[in-house]
Amino acid sequence: MSTSAPVDETATRGGFSSRKVFIFAAIGSAVGLGNLWRFPYVAYENGGGAFLIPYLVALLTAGIPFLLLDYAIGHRHRGSAPLSFARLNRRTEGIGWWQVGICFVIAVYYAGVLAWALRYVFFSIDQKWGSDPEGFFFTEFLQISDPGITTEPVLGVLVPLFLVWALVIGVLALGVQRGIGVTAAIFIPILVVTFGILVVTALFLPGATEGLNSLFTPHWAALAEPTVWAAAFGQIFFSLSIGFGIMITYASYAKRDTDMAGSGLVVGFSNSGFELLAGIGVFAALGFLAQAQDVAVDEVATAGVGLAFVAFPAIISEAPAGALIGVLFFVSLVIAGLTSLISVAEVVISAVRDKLELSRRRATLVVTVPMAVLSLAFLSTTSGLYVLDIVDHFINLFGILLVAIVSMVAIAWGARALQDLADHLNADSSSVHLGAWWRVLVGVIAPIALVYVLADAFWTDVTTPYGDYPAWMLAIFGWGTAVTVAIVGFLLARVHWREDTDLTTTGSHGSKGDHA
Ligand code: ALA
Repeated sequence: MSTSAPVDETATRGGFSSRKVFIFAAIGSAVGLGNLWRFPYVAYENGGGAFLIPYLVALLTAGIPFLLLDYAIGHRHRGSAPLSFARLNRRTEGIGWWQVGICFVIAVYYAGVLAWALRYVFFSIDQKWGSDPEGFFFTEFLQISDPGITTEPVLGVLVPLFLVWALVIGVLALGVQRGIGVTAAIFIPILVVTFGILVVTALFLPGATEGLNSLFTPHWAALAEPTVWAAAFGQIFFSLSIGFGIMITYASYAKRDTDMAGSGLVVGFSNSGFELLAGIGVFAALGFLAQAQDVAVDEVATAGVGLAFVAFPAIISEAPAGALIGVLFFVSLVIAGLTSLISVAEVVISAVRDKLELSRRRATLVVTVPMAVLSLAFLSTTSGLYVLDIVDHFINLFGILLVAIVSMVAIAWGARALQDLADHLNADSSSVHLGAWWRVLVGVIAPIALVYVLADAFWTDVTTPYGDYPAWMLAIFGWGTAVTVAIVGFLLARVHWREDTDLTTTGSHGSKGDHA
């Protein structure tokens, strides 16, 4: 262990130049496909308007408190997820690697959706889907096979997927500030503008009010469904980028005197504001579509994962200035998704750098090339959609939510570190004071709520196979993936750190590495 004087961390592992850049990067990570692509279809499948209630409960009882927990861990212990957990308590390191595994898996399929969105920017210009957006998406564009695994490539996905990875690798190779920070500081304001115009345009479409009524009219019966609550918690964790190492990693790049609790509230409420705005925009547009097709709002879109790629094209075809709406929507999706994919991959890069002392460029390649290859192999084939749908469902519930429960229990009851983490955030926070309420939420209420929803989701998935897929597909891509990342995570924690890795609480005596 090094005993040298504290080193300039920014010069060793990289860091954001200011609080503003950190907040941009964190919002860039949080606001992503989860807000624009996932939220509308998850809300649709789980009671429509009624979904807002479990969503808000999940946000306030678990989402924001857990975001602050992630910030406290990363900012206090100043390392990637595994290094921060190792510094918090040697026995919790495996949780960090489990999160790294989850990020690896998410990056592989997340890039696939981004590739679709990129392609759809161009399809929107001449409304390539003609009069049948659904048939076009599934049959012509994805060339979807019967459920199963095929190796037949789909060029229309392969090319944009390749471009997405090239872009992400380029940004990540530039490092924390010059790559991640600068990209977010440029893209997030652009996103606010493109998405703002889109939502306002949608609100002026005829029929928009009907769509909004459908979003905001609660169907109380849905609240009795535990699966709806599970979906809400899953959505919040995915959307806020919490529970899978991202916010720990980004917080470790924030300057030591940053007001993290205040920043957390800014990021948390910006993300949900964006998500609700996305809900409003999407439902307003669906209201328009329903009116144009003379059907009820809940009949216009039932396409699950494909909602954005089926309902939106239909809207684009019907709406005045449809091409503009289409380009704005899919450009927003691409921008939001890129800054999130960058953060997901960074979790793995940062961990590999901490553990192996690789240069930024080398670590970027070691991590992202296998991700890109797997992504191209699984996502740009005629069975890509199935793999994506199964992995997304299982990794969210039995990856992110499960590791969230394990980490809260381990930190609160095993390492008994909540008070220390609260003190850390309170020291620099001028705006929020984490009192007993936070420790109760993170240590008791949120874990109990999550255990309840996860147990129910587990029972549902065991008794009713998800999505009518063949059992072997669910076993490999669903249960298999979720269990493998957990096991690999705990095995990786057994690999020793380098002699000179500083495992003291705050890592203040410097770790090695090159400039980022
Ligand atoms: N938080 C990111 C999203 O919502 C992962 O897409």
